[in-house]
Amino acid sequence: MNANSDAVLNYHRRSKHSLQRYANGPASLDWEDQPNVFRSFAECETLKLSPPGAERAVLFADLAQPRGAETLNKHTLSLLLELAFGLSAWKQFGVDRWSLRCNPSSGNLHPTEVYVINTDLQLFAAGVYHYQVYQHSLEQRCVFTQPVENKSVFIGLSSVHWREAWKYGERAFRYCQHDIGHALGGLRYAAAVLGWKIELITHCSDAELSLLLGVNRAQDFKADEREFADILCRIDTQSVSQPLDLTSLIHVANRGDWRGKAESLHQYHLYKWDVINAVTQATEKPQTAPFKAKTVTSLANVQSTPPKTATAIIRQRRSAQHFNPKATLASADFYQILMATLPDKFPFDVWVMEDKIHFFIFVHRVEGLEPGLYALPRNIDKLSALQSATAEKFAWQCVSAALPLYKLLPANCRNAAKTLSCHQAIASDSAFSLAMVAEFSTTIETAAWHYRYLFWEAGLIGQVLYLQAEAAGVRGTGIGCYFDDSVHDVLGLTDEKFQSVYHFTVGTPLDDNRLQTLPAYAHLQAENTHANA
Ligand SMILES: Cc1cc2nc3c(=O)[nH]c(=O)nc-3n(C[C@H](O)[C@H](O)[C@H](O)COP(=O)(O)O)c2cc1C
Repeated sequence: MNANSDAVLNYHRRSKHSLQRYANGPASLDWEDQPNVFRSFAECETLKLSPPGAERAVLFADLAQPRGAETLNKHTLSLLLELAFGLSAWKQFGVDRWSLRCNPSSGNLHPTEVYVINTDLQLFAAGVYHYQVYQHSLEQRCVFTQPVENKSVFIGLSSVHWREAWKYGERAFRYCQHDIGHALGGLRYAAAVLGWKIELITHCSDAELSLLLGVNRAQDFKADEREFADILCRIDTQSVSQPLDLTSLIHVANRGDWRGKAESLHQYHLYKWDVINAVTQATEKPQTAPFKAKTVTSLANVQSTPPKTATAIIRQRRSAQHFNPKATLASADFYQILMATLPDKFPFDVWVMEDKIHFFIFVHRVEGLEPGLYALPRNIDKLSALQSATAEKFAWQCVSAALPLYKLLPANCRNAAKTLSCHQAIASDSAFSLAMVAEFSTTIETAAWHYRYLFWEAGLIGQVLYLQAEAAGVRGTGIGCYFDDSVHDVLGLTDEKFQSVYHFTVGTPLDDNRLQTLPAYAHLQAENTHANA
């Protein structure tokens, strides 16, 4: 075990919540001084994107089927960014008003930032652009002053750890990684609406990616509000794919004309979380060989009744805050939702890393299925490892011909699910909730930076669950707050071979009628009207 793996294990252990104490977090919060969820760069040019709200006829159920790809132009890129990361609505309660996005985020704090790197001169000037979510515009951070051979458009994702740590303290690093996984999922679904794929670039180091995104430029950011580079993807419009020369792209970015300074997100920085800095450093990815591309079967998106377009499902995605504790989920929907999470199905072509997440499912109210604890090994090769790591009393009775779904224990596990998920009723009033359990210690021992992959994979699966639930006419919610070792106790896990890294719940939502829902981008229409008056 090397020092980085040790640092990761130390972080993971101390960021656990337990029934006795929550992980270290701020003793008090100044709600008046919440971090701004919209990052802007001052002193750089802004490029207006096409108006948000464009529709496409493709049904959500058909999203995974092969289709003709749309041309990559300013309109289609605008739609991609909106559907993946843009605003989906505003909510209002009394004087309080907050925005929601197509991608979810723990605490709605949105630590993920998005960059577009363009080398296609037919699209717009070559350079690095920051996506400004509120304005639905691109801020030009870097103008490339040297030519780049091939024409490509890349999307880069980074995280402002501070945004999340402001509320969640030490556990925040985990949530930032989850949010990256959700964002990657959002991007893959949005690309599919346009008939495109997303190629994850896996060989570059975080240091190279920081340079490319400009997040290494300390002078452009307030020290506590730095961004950390996470993911680079290339948009694949399925036309002739050009070879990628990342080294020369990074060289061009390094020599480019950089502009702008990140505006402050927050006035005070009362708390410092050194362990987040330590785990950030310990999980920094070096340059590696690329992971091999993966092909998937296209089936498995849930069919809505009546059928709904993919754009409608993506824009209507919300987290349920309450569930109807009497509603039952149709068994076909339950199986379809789970089927869509299997690694050989769309959208997991984007996940070229190993599949290391398995489910333990608390079934509360699913038609035709006895309530109890179930398991779904997402990689069937890991069945026996899961069996031998968990409680001996589990029956492991296979209950489906279509899915590797096993009944472990018949039980009313509503109270257990609620208690384990930090006493949240969303885990017990739903139709089912689940723990995503990761192959853990061997992963961390192999490479400490794979720690982030476990949370990205869980976030990506979470995004699938969110959208498939919407399509089935129910709703999901990601659950980052759970008592780690109590979950392990219930499952009989006695060492760190497997660890729970994320929870999720799905059921029939109860809407809070006190909340008003407002359109996502009315402020842009108002600004346009004002400008044209
Ligand atoms: C990683 C992650 C963890 C979350 N954890 C919880 C949780 O423990 N409890 C909860 O009620 N909601 C949780 N949520 C839901 C967020 O609060 C929600 O995504 C956010 O408020 C934005 O709302 P929306 O999903 O409706 O857009 C979580 C979401 C994510 C992405």
